[in-house]
Amino acid sequence: MTHTQIAIIGAGPGGYAAAFLAAGRGMKTMLIDAEAAPGGVCLHRGCIPSKALLHAVKLLTETREAEKIGLHFPPPRIDLERLRGWKEEVVQRLTNGLAQQCRAREVTWLQGTARFLNSTTLELRQPDQEPQSITFEKAIIATGSRPAAIPGVDMDLPGVMDSSQALQLDVIPASLLVIGGGNIGLELGTVYAALGTRVWVVEAGPGILPGLDRDLVRPVAARLGKIMAGVSVGARIVALTPNGTGLKVVVADSEGRETTHEVERVLVAAGREAVSEGLGLENTRVTRNARGEIQVNAGMMTQDPAILAIGDVTGGPMLAHRAAMQARVAVASLAGYPPPHRQPIIPAVTYTDPELAWAGLLEAEARAKGIETRAVRFPWAASGRAHTLERTDGVTKLILDPSTGAILGVGITGPGAGELIAAAVVAMEKGATAQDLAHMVHPHPTLSETFAEAADLFLGHCVHYHAPARGAPPPGNVQRPLL
Ligand code: NAI
Repeated sequence: MTHTQIAIIGAGPGGYAAAFLAAGRGMKTMLIDAEAAPGGVCLHRGCIPSKALLHAVKLLTETREAEKIGLHFPPPRIDLERLRGWKEEVVQRLTNGLAQQCRAREVTWLQGTARFLNSTTLELRQPDQEPQSITFEKAIIATGSRPAAIPGVDMDLPGVMDSSQALQLDVIPASLLVIGGGNIGLELGTVYAALGTRVWVVEAGPGILPGLDRDLVRPVAARLGKIMAGVSVGARIVALTPNGTGLKVVVADSEGRETTHEVERVLVAAGREAVSEGLGLENTRVTRNARGEIQVNAGMMTQDPAILAIGDVTGGPMLAHRAAMQARVAVASLAGYPPPHRQPIIPAVTYTDPELAWAGLLEAEARAKGIETRAVRFPWAASGRAHTLERTDGVTKLILDPSTGAILGVGITGPGAGELIAAAVVAMEKGATAQDLAHMVHPHPTLSETFAEAADLFLGHCVHYHAPARGAPPPGNVQRPLL
């Protein structure tokens, strides 16, 4: 029987981060995953391959749009095999790096499927080997999530894909219907549309990216409207049946009017669900909610004193960086530290064109919670840098406490928003106010200036955009003299 101090099940960005951090604290650590290499969904068939493809199609789009500024390229020739090969090389490089890190940090990497026999023992099944028992002092479950099925849609029908299959990019279909106008649907829909597929998006909610502020979503919706064959919101799938070599999809709009689409492929991207069954949790004291998500406290501990859980298996938001943050908390718990006194701000990015990034409180959420806020929007049409990039469709929005100027939330839509949001997280985590931000010098010409100019708008001192001041400027450190 093998013994380890820490057994980690699942080697995605939560699991491998936990393994490296635990090993870094001198704990004897074992990292187990059914896949041949560490990385999880994020690296093998999620964040990384999708962003590689989005980078490729951004180049395509830019060459097409360069005509406007006097640069003429012949129509691009897409070598699908090479594109697929490059994307796989990117994944391979990173998985090799993780395997190397496991060796360097003396983490025992095991390919296999683990199941709890009790709160101190796992049964490990490895390819072509007899099952073996592993005893542990503490275990961390980091088994992640998988695409959720939707009622009435048979995922086994030929031509119906989930995000993993869509990322394989085996063909560029002539037509594709995407079910779900969330992150996955819009990002992968963008990839296929740019490669030449006619793409329809069907979203059940009242708008794409439901839940987010509409003023942030509008520039995304406007551009998607140009590259997609159609985007239906408030719509549902009535029937999905085989149709020759393709599929027939009947979609009903919010008034019940039906439209029939005959498409080559359908992508189901209607959310993800926790992977928590088959783990033998019934042999432990770990509890799950009705959605199968493992219940944890602020220190990522389950109801079983020997078992912790992190990442998507604990519920949403299902984001790799949230899982990685939870890995830190879990390993700190193992080392005997108390849980953090508050939840950190978790930013989120939708990698469409333009990108949409947000962190902290959004207006829609503030309204729902009855929190009084004031929002200011700095349109990128007033940004010199945005003009030099020929991308003035963005917006930088701050959600502030009207009485103190404290920054409660930030939303950015525009190319590179995913990089820009990091500064907003730093500002909010450090308790910055609009006044603080306005006093920080941002380099010119950059898109980062839009962040400071939005703060200036709130204070009534904006140089590049004039909007009549609403309400009195906040008291407090607004008295600090302006530069
Ligand atoms: P999602 O929750 O972001 O979006 C799913 C969308 O499908 C929602 O807008 C929902 O209203 C819609 N929907 C649900 N049932 C439907 C139906 N029957 N017909 C039509 N529309 C329907 O989920 P998604 O895009 O599948 O992503 C899964 C998870 O992975 C999310 O937690 C997401 O945040 C995360 N993710 C994050 C990414 C990022 O950070 N850029 C990229 C990809 C995924």
